[in-house]
Amino acid sequence: MRTIRVKASVEYDVIIDGGILPRAGELSLPVCGACSACIVTDDTVDALYSKTLEKSLLDSGFRVVKFVIPHGEASKSTTSLINLLEFLAENKLTRSDCIFALGGGVVGDLAGFAAAVYLRGIKFIQLPTTLLAAVDSSVGGKTAVDLVAGKNLAGAFHQPSLVICDYKTLDTLPPEIFSDGCAEVIKYGIINDRPLFELLKSGIRNNLEEVIAACVLNKSRIVAADEFDTGMRQLLNLGHTVGHAIEARSEFGISHGSAVAMGMAIVTRAAVSMGLCPENDLGEVVEMLESASLPTRCPYGADELVGTALGDKKRFGDTISLVVPYSIGDSRLYKINVNELKDFFERGLKE
Ligand SMILES: NC(=O)c1ccc[n+]([C@@H]2O[C@H](COP(=O)([O-])OP(=O)(O)OC[C@H]3O[C@@H](n4cnc5c(N)ncnc54)[C@H](O)[C@@H]3O)[C@@H](O)[C@H]2O)c1
Repeated sequence: MRTIRVKASVEYDVIIDGGILPRAGELSLPVCGACSACIVTDDTVDALYSKTLEKSLLDSGFRVVKFVIPHGEASKSTTSLINLLEFLAENKLTRSDCIFALGGGVVGDLAGFAAAVYLRGIKFIQLPTTLLAAVDSSVGGKTAVDLVAGKNLAGAFHQPSLVICDYKTLDTLPPEIFSDGCAEVIKYGIINDRPLFELLKSGIRNNLEEVIAACVLNKSRIVAADEFDTGMRQLLNLGHTVGHAIEARSEFGISHGSAVAMGMAIVTRAAVSMGLCPENDLGEVVEMLESASLPTRCPYGADELVGTALGDKKRFGDTISLVVPYSIGDSRLYKINVNELKDFFERGLKE
């Protein structure tokens, strides 16, 4: 078992262990007492893990209600949010009660946003069941739903009160969803953790506890330094500006993890071509992504990506901030003029 303390505006623990879901009730008692608990989950995770969580909460004296959404990004909507808020009110949850988000990033983002706005804010506990949620979305307090105009356009910063990560639950993940999470794991190594990158060479599945703990530690340090995303937290966007453009261009037919993997390969290739990063590191990045069954080549040209990328949230006037690896373990914010973006993409897309 590992426990990592996140020191954001609210401090909380991330507890990482295989097989701790049956202890979730007991672990939550110090954080919220035996209150009314609303489990929020999706239908897939519900069938696999809700009973275990529910039993654990009941055994510890909680009153339990459950709200289940259909699995998939389409459920991260304003409609689900309103339905969840009405459900909380119908079930008379009060300010001293707590939401338990059991699932991947979709459940965590939706449940976290509901916790942020219900009664102007109640507690919530994250119980991530995907690799992406374990290493990224469950920590750091970004919550959101999607609008018709785009992903994550309505949300709030609202830190969880506790994160309980039972990595045994990742055993049931379909391989492609596990691979999606691997993109985020590899990202931490390239951003600022060469030792983690080396550890990944012996396999992510073989070292889950150590790998998740290293990623959470990285994220917790970044969140402690820049909780509200005005500087250093932007480093977590490595591969994401290009990745979001690829996802959007494919009308979300290419998964987020695959798009971020292509994005990381593209920015590293561009960095090598501009003389910022040694060529050898590009080889290592590509090999690592491929070993996690992730793609490193993009089906689109620079012209097809640049328009979407220019709408990125990280654009300020005529400049856009990209995250560029100077070497594995040393990525930096790199501001370029919007006129130079196409050239940057072309360098990254070259054979
Ligand atoms: N808040 C943040 O900081 C942050 C960071 C990164 C991503 N995100 C968000 O996270 C979301 C993506 O999260 P995700 O990749 O976890 O997707 P997801 O929540 O949709 O889960 C992927 C699929 O895996 C299934 N699943 C989950 N756990 C399972 C298990 N243990 N066994 C079998 N199947 C399981 C789900 O039912 C779903 O179909 C996006 O909406 C993204 O915007 C948020």
